[in-house]
Amino acid sequence: MNFQLKEGMLLGAATAATQIEGGAANNNWYNWYRHGYIKDGSDPSAAVDHYGKWEEDLALMKEMGLQCYRMGLEWSRVEPQDGVFDEKAIARYRREIQAIQDAGIPVLLTLHHFSNPLWLEERGGFAQHDNITYFLRYVRKMVESLGDLVSEYITINEPNVYAFNGYMEGAWPPGRKSFLDMARVMTNMAAAHIEAYGLIRKTRLQMGYPNTRVGVANHLRVFAPKDPQNPLQRFWAERVEELFQGSLTRAMCTGRAVFPIGKHPSIVPGRFCDFHGVNYYTRSTVSGPADGVASNCPVNDLGWEIYPEGITQVCQKLYKLLPRPIYITENGACDNSDYFRARYIAEHLQALCASPLPIERYYHWCFCDNWEWTEGVSARFGLVHVNHETGARTVKRSGEFYRRLIAEGGVSEALYEEYCAVPYDKNGEGRA
Ligand code: BGC
Repeated sequence: MNFQLKEGMLLGAATAATQIEGGAANNNWYNWYRHGYIKDGSDPSAAVDHYGKWEEDLALMKEMGLQCYRMGLEWSRVEPQDGVFDEKAIARYRREIQAIQDAGIPVLLTLHHFSNPLWLEERGGFAQHDNITYFLRYVRKMVESLGDLVSEYITINEPNVYAFNGYMEGAWPPGRKSFLDMARVMTNMAAAHIEAYGLIRKTRLQMGYPNTRVGVANHLRVFAPKDPQNPLQRFWAERVEELFQGSLTRAMCTGRAVFPIGKHPSIVPGRFCDFHGVNYYTRSTVSGPADGVASNCPVNDLGWEIYPEGITQVCQKLYKLLPRPIYITENGACDNSDYFRARYIAEHLQALCASPLPIERYYHWCFCDNWEWTEGVSARFGLVHVNHETGARTVKRSGEFYRRLIAEGGVSEALYEEYCAVPYDKNGEGRA
């Protein structure tokens, strides 16, 4: 393998506040932990103490030569009670963002990433249409407070995953199992995004900043029929894709509401994203109304298929829906021993760089090992290793590879040989 990065493309890493910061115990996820739903029992209010160690983490970002950084805000920290904003917490985020930007690393800021303050969760979170006003109040306050520093925003991270896992599958808070609830949450989140899109741009404009970019971090998978010759399986692959991601993405980008997205006064035809955020991890194989993993394919340590070609397939569909610049807002793998991560990165980037689409950013998930929702700290996605006993950080071999790749502007044969020439299925593991 041998390729050059796209001209002007920036390479960085992503994180989410609840997954790295620690110190926040006033949200739906801490509550979920208290009820014993985290597989390894690890506590999100510890996470990996980025809140205490952010300067050390920033030093590592600089050392690795990251060119951009996606980070999130912890809503429950800045608005611990309904309508009561914690100015100290906001000032602390200002300091961190300022320091990152001063290091020449532009920040892409996520406003909502799966975590709700408890007071909002208790009122029904995004399942209640009226709660959208609380989200908008928070968004306005954050943009008024940070808008002079930050010009690029993600309103909501993976609304389909949030809605599906929490309201249909019941594995995430609040643990519901209802298709109608899931559809309601998707609809309200689409409406919340559309409203926030206008609000962020307007607020920044009033502050004297005309150049703002707002988007969504869409979780997109490739859905493939198990047997491509089977018309029923092809039908189900299309249906599952539409229900899980297609109609929601369309509603958020263009304001078209098609089942399961319901009617809502804010969902009206228009253009509601300045870039497409793509979180891409895997392909799902479909033989009926549910999805699964194909047999005999390479998988990561959580059993998700590794399918690098898919990353451009999902980008292509989005671009066809609405031609906008593309940011890969997440891409990565649970690889606990950091065995194949460098190869994974190289193969996904190679696919992206061979595509004629305007792919402007690549944010690897994750900058460091993190608290991985119901998996706890047992699933490692980081470029930087975190010792969960001591909190010590060490750049992994894949992180070292990423540094070299950024510095060299691509992957040479020699670089590939040095870091990536390994099978995915070490010792016969890692294969479905
Ligand atoms: C989420 C992240 C998560 C990652 C890996 C994405 O669905 O946005 O929060 O850690 O996948 O599971």
